[in-house]
Amino acid sequence: MDLPSFLWLWRIAAWSMGFTLSAYLVLAVSGGWISFSRQTQRSRPGWLRPLHYTVGGIMVALVLLLLAIGIVGTLGEYGSLGHSMHLPAGLDVVALVVLSASSAIFISPQRPWVRYLHVGTNLLLLGALAVVTLTGWQVVQKYLP
Ligand code: HEM
Ligand code: HEM
Repeated sequence: MDLPSFLWLWRIAAWSMGFTLSAYLVLAVSGGWISFSRQTQRSRPGWLRPLHYTVGGIMVALVLLLLAIGIVGTLGEYGSLGHSMHLPAGLDVVALVVLSASSAIFISPQRPWVRYLHVGTNLLLLGALAVVTLTGWQVVQKYLP
């Protein structure tokens, strides 16, 4: 397949990444608020938890979309995977997002350690997102005119 026909695919990737990073920001703020209200035993607005949950689900969907675009696009271009550090970087992000979302389901007062797992994976996720953005930006240069 010729290169320019793939450009629209990487454009969708760039947009999805923008939404992913925005979602991360909203999650960090709303998660911080949840944590603050729990530790200070203040009441919190009823929409806060559903917001955090919904935006979290959207971020998981976006990351899976990016994974699909990356794999389909790379297979279409080379017929194989693993052409740069972008592959391990992408798989890292997917693993951390899935771990974060699945741990979130088990957060409860009876299992306080799950909270640390959730927050810990999300701190690692921030670094992983930075690496995947940088490596993705590098490989995209090959396709730009
Ligand atoms: C991956 C998608 C995510 C899902 C599905 C999710 C879901 C949840 C859920 C269900 C809770 C428990 C809320 C409660 O106790 O009422 C929670 C708490 C929290 N989340 Fe997330 N979350 C996600 C991503 C994130 C991200 C990216 C961050 C930070 C950057 C974050 C930070 C927090 C924090 C700080 C708490 C509060 C923990 C505490 O009570 O001390 N979450 N999350
Ligand atoms: C969560 C975010 C992302 C994930 C999970 C992801 C995942 C992947 C995966 C698994 C591949 C196949 C790599 C290979 O087999 O060598 C790939 C390829 C690619 N991705 Fe991403 N990606 C993400 C973000 C981005 C971003 C932000 C860009 C830049 C706009 C981007 C641009 C590309 C390009 C251009 C390729 C083709 C690789 C090549 O030509 O060597 N990706 N992506």
